[in-house]
Amino acid sequence: MSVTAMDVPARVRVHPAPLSGTVAVSGDKSIGHRCLLVGSLIPGRVEVTGLAPSADIAATAAALRLLGVEVALTAAEDGRLFGTVDGTPAEVADVGPVEVDCGNSGTTLRLLAGVAAGSGRHVVLDGDASLRRRPVDRIRAPLAAMGIVTRAREDRLPPLEVLPGRVHEVDWASPVASAQIKSAVLLAAVAGGVPARIVSPLPSRDHTERMLRHVGIDVHSGLGPQGEEIVRLVPGSPRATSLSAPRDPSAAAFWHVAAACGEGTVVTPGLSLNPGRTGALDVLTGMAAGVVVSARTEVGGEPIGTVTVSGGELRASEIGGELVVRSLDELPVLALAGALSSGGMRVRDASELRVKESDRIRVLAETFHALGLQLTEHEDGFHVPGAQRPRGGRVNAHGDHRIAMTAAIAASLGTGPVDIDGFSAVGTSYPGFLADLERLGGAWESLDG
Ligand code: S3P
Repeated sequence: MSVTAMDVPARVRVHPAPLSGTVAVSGDKSIGHRCLLVGSLIPGRVEVTGLAPSADIAATAAALRLLGVEVALTAAEDGRLFGTVDGTPAEVADVGPVEVDCGNSGTTLRLLAGVAAGSGRHVVLDGDASLRRRPVDRIRAPLAAMGIVTRAREDRLPPLEVLPGRVHEVDWASPVASAQIKSAVLLAAVAGGVPARIVSPLPSRDHTERMLRHVGIDVHSGLGPQGEEIVRLVPGSPRATSLSAPRDPSAAAFWHVAAACGEGTVVTPGLSLNPGRTGALDVLTGMAAGVVVSARTEVGGEPIGTVTVSGGELRASEIGGELVVRSLDELPVLALAGALSSGGMRVRDASELRVKESDRIRVLAETFHALGLQLTEHEDGFHVPGAQRPRGGRVNAHGDHRIAMTAAIAASLGTGPVDIDGFSAVGTSYPGFLADLERLGGAWESLDG
């Protein structure tokens, strides 16, 4: 990969400044991983486009290379990566475990566990200190139900070792609505050529299902009587010559919140409008921000469009249930909109936030308090009173890209500069964040050496 996430400064100071304009954000993280992983299940060469030049995508590409898949990526003029995925990680003679460093990327670890299991490979999946704190028992259980033996530290933490075996048909009821668990099972089933049925308590992003349908696999999705999501896969041979990622709505959410809380208007073209990803836009619309979607189209089974957001007198917001699953990654930055609204924001049913790149409820509370904002932590969410404005201060991102970017938006909307330690975490998903901040009129300086 010729472009990496390594040039994001470790410490930055972001100054208050109104943000407005048009910005073409990074390639979608979720779909980018799937372009590489689904591409690796297709015999022959597959072209991939629109990938983010981020550390998480680099981790998936490097992992596949270790499994013998040829992955070649180059930066396009727009900064996104294009290239090819050639070959599959299919069963090889026992060469001992392949050790994979997934870095900070939970999606790499969980989805690759599925690919490796279905391909009969022996892998040990490990990562950085943040990833080593995130549970893997939720992925071990469905793999066990498929007949695959795994081992983990204290039975529930990485490194996760997937032993070689043959997957068999599975009917799995997941206790959590997690696209990563669902996708791991689906990818294992495709790689191993077995049927799978997965029931989840609520629907989650369905990028894997859409991409698998696009490459010719029979995947049926529906809702059960209690609103549970039921996905059924019939095995088949995937075929495609190209796969592409749209731009990332979770990256755009930072600018959407800045626009909703400020005077400007932000235009973000080419975003995934997958219904599993539009919860933040629904929250902002419900708070009375101006949200307009235009230029709708569809690529590879994914709905795509331009989203324009402008400010308003923001109202109170309550977020729970299925809306949480559809806005999970955006909740930290949405909390800022809650603070600047008239009536505040209450979030419940969001305990999954505690097992993300950081304990996002805890770290968000710490970040808000350092900027003079009130936020009360609950086990499964938080409450932010309204009519508040962040002041300057110093915060630590605790290795979490979304906390670092939330702090930068707080600074832009606030009354004084914010120094952010651990800012380089942003490189895991959105290495162009600071360039885009500048493009929209933001002001920042590096505090490195
Ligand atoms: C992802 C699914 C979500 C999300 C993560 C990426 C994916 O996690 O938080 O950033 O690409 O499948 P879960 O659905 O597993 O909670």
